[in-house]
Amino acid sequence: MQYNVIVIGSGPGGYVAAIRAAQLGFKTAIVEKYDTLGGTCLNVGCIPSKALLDSSEHFINAKEHFAEHGIDIPAPKVNIGQMIKRKSDVVKSNVDGIAFLMKKNKIDVHTGVGSFVDKNTIKVTGKDGKETTITTDKVIIATGSKPTPLPFAAFDKKRIISSTEALELKEVPKHLIVIGGGVIGMELGSVYARIGAKVTVVEFLDSLIPTMDGTMGKELSRVAKKLGMDIFLGHKVTAVENTGNEVVVKAEPKNGGNALELKGDYCLVSIGRRPYTDGLGLDKIGIETVKGQIPVDDHLKTKVDNVYAIGDVVRGAMLAHKAEEEGVYVAEQMAGQKPHVNYLLIPGVVYTWPEVASVGYTEEQLKQSGRAYKTGSFPYKALGRARASMDTDGLVKVLADKQTDEILGIHIIGARAADMIAAGVTAMEFRASAEDVARMSHAHPTYMEAVKEACLAATANRPIHI
Ligand code: FAD
Ligand code: NAI
Repeated sequence: MQYNVIVIGSGPGGYVAAIRAAQLGFKTAIVEKYDTLGGTCLNVGCIPSKALLDSSEHFINAKEHFAEHGIDIPAPKVNIGQMIKRKSDVVKSNVDGIAFLMKKNKIDVHTGVGSFVDKNTIKVTGKDGKETTITTDKVIIATGSKPTPLPFAAFDKKRIISSTEALELKEVPKHLIVIGGGVIGMELGSVYARIGAKVTVVEFLDSLIPTMDGTMGKELSRVAKKLGMDIFLGHKVTAVENTGNEVVVKAEPKNGGNALELKGDYCLVSIGRRPYTDGLGLDKIGIETVKGQIPVDDHLKTKVDNVYAIGDVVRGAMLAHKAEEEGVYVAEQMAGQKPHVNYLLIPGVVYTWPEVASVGYTEEQLKQSGRAYKTGSFPYKALGRARASMDTDGLVKVLADKQTDEILGIHIIGARAADMIAAGVTAMEFRASAEDVARMSHAHPTYMEAVKEACLAATANRPIHI
């Protein structure tokens, strides 16, 4: 079979690239080694984690907040089997949706491991070992990433687990030890903390979610402790051992002090993900990875003509929507268009409750670059909307250029931050000043009023409601 475009990998990068290529008139195929499409995000990432986050939020609301709302129910109980089943149903409906989209766009799906024979020929090896060869003008590599193990403790998938197993547990852990207080650690840690597990997070750096603005990490730490999570920052894990019925984690404070020894029934290792290129046969086309990543230029081209790479397997944030933008970019570029991805404005979201969402520069980045800036903040507790829903934790922080007032970053921790950040992206994409946003009418009562107020604070320190 001869194609114009073959996409290897069907995650958000790959399937979106395939759809856009097909829309632009290319005869397109997608190769996926698993039986279901959608990659990490739909099968073992974004979607199942959000399904469990939602379930755990319903549980804690029923357990701790319904009574205050005047809703009396018997003490709720967790049915973990049903929670996991619902999550799997949600995954199924999403991955089936991608299969439908492939059909709708007349994209051929080849199931099996795709590997280069040469730059125009891909061998697809099915689970049964059957090999099919397909040829193409252009290839888009979108093979994604896998969890990074600790160098001294491999995932045994029983007690020392990655996010993939943490989405499939058959019981609520008694004590879940989380190594890495980044996005996965805090999202999945909070799921199990809400449904009854004791959760301890051990983080190497001095802040949770350390790539985000420091204020967010501090506030998230406060909220996580309120939820009952134990947090150890600045700790270097030295040993993790599955002793049969339990897992023992040892860590040392980086700046000296007493060593830590924790015993739990599960240890979630969430210290980042690494690009995945196993079995791809990159050597057949002369591509060498650098720190695991496929090197690409500013146009996502590899060093081999007509071979592109996108998503988690290349540099940049490992996010579904970043992969999607790159998928569209490459397809449109192949069609002779002049697309653009604004990497500064790829938002980052942590789906804890309250959520954390961020776009643009952090205060730490601005300090480091020496750019003169000003800040404005507004706490959720001063919002009528937040009081009505009792979601008073959190704040909005706006960073703006000191001279021009252009918004340089928006950082939100609070209810519905994930959805609100889109307004920040829009404002920054149109290069709004803090005063522009401060002068726009925001519906009352909404959480978005905190963004307006933070912009008022940044403009001339004149918030109204605080
Ligand atoms: P992937 O989604 O990893 O897809 C790659 C695909 O390629 C896989 O299906 C793989 O099987 C296939 N493949 C690999 N090699 C071959 C081969 N040789 N032949 C055939 N097929 C192959 N991001 C967000 O933006 N929001 C979130 O809320 C979010 N939540 C997450 C939660 C968790 C628990 C995890 C683990 C990740 C989360 N992410 C989230 C990150 C997100 O999942 C990734 O950034 C995204 O999936 C990357 O997309 P991709 O297309 O580059 O690769
Ligand atoms: P991460 O990079 O977000 O966090 C890893 C954390 O582990 C960091 O805080 C790091 O300092 C810490 N760490 C590293 N080595 C350590 C060690 N030896 N001991 C203790 N701590 C250590 O990575 P995570 O959480 O594994 O997620 C992987 C990727 O998946 C992220 O890059 C993220 O972009 C993506 N993801 C996105 C989500 C979202 O958008 N909501 C949700 C989940 C994952």
